Amino acid sequence: MVRLSLSSKSVKSVASDALVLTLAPPAGKTGAKGGAPALLGADDLPRATRTALAQAVTAVGATGALGTVNLLPAVTGLAAPLVALVGLGADPADGESLRRAAGAAVRALAGRRRVVLVPPTSDVATVSALAEGAALGAYAFTRYRAAAAEPVAELTLLVDKPRDKALRTGLERARVLGEAVALARDLINTAPGDLAPADLAEAAVQAGAGTSLTVRVLDEEALAAGGYGGILGVGQGSVRPPRLVVVEHAPRGAKGHLALVGKGITFDSGGLSLKPPAGMETMKSDMSGAAAVLAAVKAVADLGLPLKVTGWLAVAENMPSGTAIRPSDVLTMHGGTTVEVLNTDAEGRLVLGDALVAATAEHPDHVVDVATLTGAQVVALGNRVSAVMGNDDAFREQVLGAARRAGEQFWPMPLPQELRSSLDSTVADLSNIGDRAGGMLVAGLFLQEFVGTAADGSPTPWAHLDIAGPAFLTAEPFGYTHRGGTGVAVRTLVALAEDLAG
Ligand code: BES
Ligand code: MN
Ligand code: ZN
Repeated sequence: MVRLSLSSKSVKSVASDALVLTLAPPAGKTGAKGGAPALLGADDLPRATRTALAQAVTAVGATGALGTVNLLPAVTGLAAPLVALVGLGADPADGESLRRAAGAAVRALAGRRRVVLVPPTSDVATVSALAEGAALGAYAFTRYRAAAAEPVAELTLLVDKPRDKALRTGLERARVLGEAVALARDLINTAPGDLAPADLAEAAVQAGAGTSLTVRVLDEEALAAGGYGGILGVGQGSVRPPRLVVVEHAPRGAKGHLALVGKGITFDSGGLSLKPPAGMETMKSDMSGAAAVLAAVKAVADLGLPLKVTGWLAVAENMPSGTAIRPSDVLTMHGGTTVEVLNTDAEGRLVLGDALVAATAEHPDHVVDVATLTGAQVVALGNRVSAVMGNDDAFREQVLGAARRAGEQFWPMPLPQELRSSLDSTVADLSNIGDRAGGMLVAGLFLQEFVGTAADGSPTPWAHLDIAGPAFLTAEPFGYTHRGGTGVAVRTLVALAEDLAG
């Protein structure tokens, strides 16, 4: 994790391996001729240095477009051996633009130890967003080989008042989020052979060690005793048995109770309804929901939010074998609902159903589940936009508001009642598959059946996040997002918890 700090040292003389300066595109219509991008936050540089920089901007053709990075060697009047010009795009005050720009700069500077960044302005929102983007960008997954270039180790942001309380709080929040997202990414990127359900449970125990979190692990015996037929059924094809992990932050004086439920399929082969080889290549990431829930609860505890948050990680490995569930097998879920399994590849909803019943039995004020649930999500919204569904319009909007502030792209999707009957079974309460058309919505409707009620009998306000596309990046890295596990949803969940904590 990069070390973040604030300093009021002079841009000219501050020691570093690289200096990051920000650029805004020329004002007016894009493509307008004549305008040069504007160098921001560098007003107190000597005229000769500003002239040298302006010439360099033109020479390298820097545009100021969001996330573009141009490297300049040894600029007159600056101690830094290297200057990185990073574009902030059309809205240089936008939080997500700042995060992505800082992330892109830090990624481009991997291999340099000490980096100094000059924010375009010194306000708390700008400095915090830059710090967060840098923390997210300074990442590499090194378990199986050394990083091609070590991530930036130290990032100093130059500000007028480095001791300012609000700035320091913003920096600390950036650090906590950076660490949480890195935890999620590391777990997702770990090879599935090295991350059996018991290993993911152990990772949760480790994450809680030395913190105020309590972590409880239900092993296969406890799951059998509790009647968790969904988690056990999905896990029964693997020699590595399933787990249900409960991670809790329960501070004194909590303002409410938020339950989070994560899909934790450590590998999704499809089971006997086996996936084709290409469909399996990224299925180590099928525990991204559980990773996001674990990371978010950890971050909430690190931030000391006055909200009770209970994370439920429904963890199993979906494998084909002589002990695997068969299409047409019937499972009895936690709480007694029976499900006919017509497709063993629709396993996420089975583990989540059990966990939703258990999570809502505690009568939380709200429940959110997070899952790489359907290929249909990817077809509908692509690899950068996640879906939000739910049983309560106001709460769904609240989740979307949190996502927008966090800078994660989520879009609302409906749960049309007319699709519900497609989940009817001829032998059990429900079938685990329904209409293929609207597959993402059908999966959401399945989950809705397992959302319990508040003490007064009204349904617990629930939101379902389908992150199938955005959870894992196989395309070119961008902004602060690296290849592999992205850690998507962690920051939205933390922002939601902040909102609910008031
Ligand atoms: N884990 C997959 C969904 C998925 C697909 C996530 C692609 C990320 C990328 C899920 O368990 C699954 O296999 N869903 C099936 C459900 C179908 C059988 C009803 C699907 O979407 O094809
Ligand atoms: Mn599947
Ligand atoms: Zn799956």
